[in-house]
Amino acid sequence: MQLGGWFQQALTGQRQLVFVTGEAGIGKTTLVDAFVERLREQKGAWIGRGQCIEHYGAGEAYMPVLEALGRLCRQPDGQRLIELLDQYAPTWLVQMPTLLSPDKLAALKQKVVGVTPERMLREMAEAVEAFTAEQVLILVLEDLHWSDYATLELLAMLARRREAARLLMIGTYRPVEMLVHEHPLRGVKQELQLHGHCRELALEFLTEQAVQEYLANRWNGKADESASLQDLARFIHNHTDRNPLFMVNMVDYLIRQGVVAETAGSWELRGRLDAAGAGRYASFGLRYAALPLSWSAGRGIRERRTGSGGMCTTE
Ligand SMILES: Nc1ncnc2c1ncn2[C@@H]1O[C@H](COP(=O)(O)OP(=O)(O)OP(=O)(O)O)[C@@H](O)[C@H]1O
Ligand SMILES: [Mg+2]
Repeated sequence: MQLGGWFQQALTGQRQLVFVTGEAGIGKTTLVDAFVERLREQKGAWIGRGQCIEHYGAGEAYMPVLEALGRLCRQPDGQRLIELLDQYAPTWLVQMPTLLSPDKLAALKQKVVGVTPERMLREMAEAVEAFTAEQVLILVLEDLHWSDYATLELLAMLARRREAARLLMIGTYRPVEMLVHEHPLRGVKQELQLHGHCRELALEFLTEQAVQEYLANRWNGKADESASLQDLARFIHNHTDRNPLFMVNMVDYLIRQGVVAETAGSWELRGRLDAAGAGRYASFGLRYAALPLSWSAGRGIRERRTGSGGMCTTE
């Protein structure tokens, strides 16, 4: 997995910024979740997660970063982070008042009166270098196509600094959404890319082979290479825009319709694969992922192929 290689580089003190990109439902979150889960099992890393939210007008500055830091500080070993923030980035700590006693909060407020936005950025740069001298830090920021501008500035500044930091920043975004809404992320990323300060993992649409692998995996690898498995994979591939979210929903749908039946850890094709029915289902709003998923995101995940187009690396 490419993310694993970049993580190894981050471990040596070469800070990394990776954009995981692709359309809605293509598997960005699933991929990052699977990667982060593996690291969690190994322990020894601070893993912070923040989510950008779609909003109208200017969003709160640094919202996803504050969310990620707040969560990290509330973890069992979070006290150490609070101490480091207090020492290096008081302006940030004061924005997370629930982590502080009333006295501490009042004292910090006094300390940070009149701090400029530039100083705030510098504080975080130094805090990150102090954190990562103690432990590797992974910062996942989801859906940057909705990010506030301050968060982008911070990411860019952290990516550009030359000081050693065991830091891996992963940002996900939908390119189409970014372009349609002329989001400043586009310019920020172009600039970073130009100077080799970021990398991109562009997720590709599913191949028929990947659908087959998913089906085999979903049934504990027991489905064979039979013609019916291939028929089913081809059918799903042809009717789901090659998108994993639609694929998973389509399989659930076919099971509900009794076309595919699960029997003792394996499966059987019981009905006719009906293109008209699939079309009706697809036009039912499948496209926008409004349907509840009965399938948990973690099950049946296979390593994803990624595109080389648009890849930017520092090599
Ligand atoms: N590699 C995979 N194997 C199996 N299922 C997958 C895989 N990737 C994605 N899925 C399925 O597709 C669904 C949507 O994926 P995910 O939420 O990761 O997409 P996304 O790219 O983050 O979309 P968005 O832009 O809307 O956030 C998941 O809930 C999961 O069911
Ligand atoms: Mg997502």
